[in-house]
Amino acid sequence: ARFVTITPDMSEAVILHLRNNFFADEPLNKAVSLCERGEPHAALERLCAVTIADGLSVAAVEGDTSIEKIQQSSDEKYNKIFTILYSVSQELDLFNTFQVDKILECRIISVDQQARGRGLAKELMARSIDIAKQNGFKLFKADATGAFSQRICSSLGMEVIRTVRYDEYLDSSGTPVFNVPPPHEALAIMVRKLP
Ligand code: ACO
Repeated sequence: ARFVTITPDMSEAVILHLRNNFFADEPLNKAVSLCERGEPHAALERLCAVTIADGLSVAAVEGDTSIEKIQQSSDEKYNKIFTILYSVSQELDLFNTFQVDKILECRIISVDQQARGRGLAKELMARSIDIAKQNGFKLFKADATGAFSQRICSSLGMEVIRTVRYDEYLDSSGTPVFNVPPPHEALAIMVRKLP
């Protein structure tokens, strides 16, 4: 087994493990018949969530269980999205390529529908880059999934290091995995080196 610090992205897998193992079997839980095996328990799961958030929990994972697999959920649609993002990221091997030990990744940028087109996203992204600099990050990265996020990243000095055209990203039967309406054409992995 490999021993890894439990990060928040592993929460779902950890909770599933606990539902199937700890919740039903721990002696006091068992004594009061707290849960059937596999059943959720809201209060106990809140305790798990805050404990994981402390960043001090450790897990033993089987040899071939990659972090990417841990991050997968049981939702196939969600998995499609994270399969493209993780596989491209893994190929790019940014830590080695850019010789950095930490990267600030802008994972989600979102603006209220009513407030779009006023430059808010660009300002938020610029501030994220400042936060990266202030915290000593040498690389800022985003998986820009659409034309607007790509425009924002470019205008803030980020460079495209990989593009995957959606009409060329096919499943095993040769059908595009994502039907993304225009103006969005591709996933662009974008980075900016920081001083
Ligand atoms: N049509 C044409 N151009 C647009 C549009 C639009 N509907 N919306 C934004 N743009 C252009 C702007 O003109 C601007 O370009 P410019 O600086 O050359 O003029 C650029 O895109 C950025 O505009 P902002 O006003 O800063 O962006 P906004 O505040 O509207 O937010 C965002 C953009 C975050 C993409 C918003 O549309 C949104 O929340 N979309 C849904 C979530 C999403 O797709 N997020 C990005 C995914 S990638 C990631 O999260 C890492």
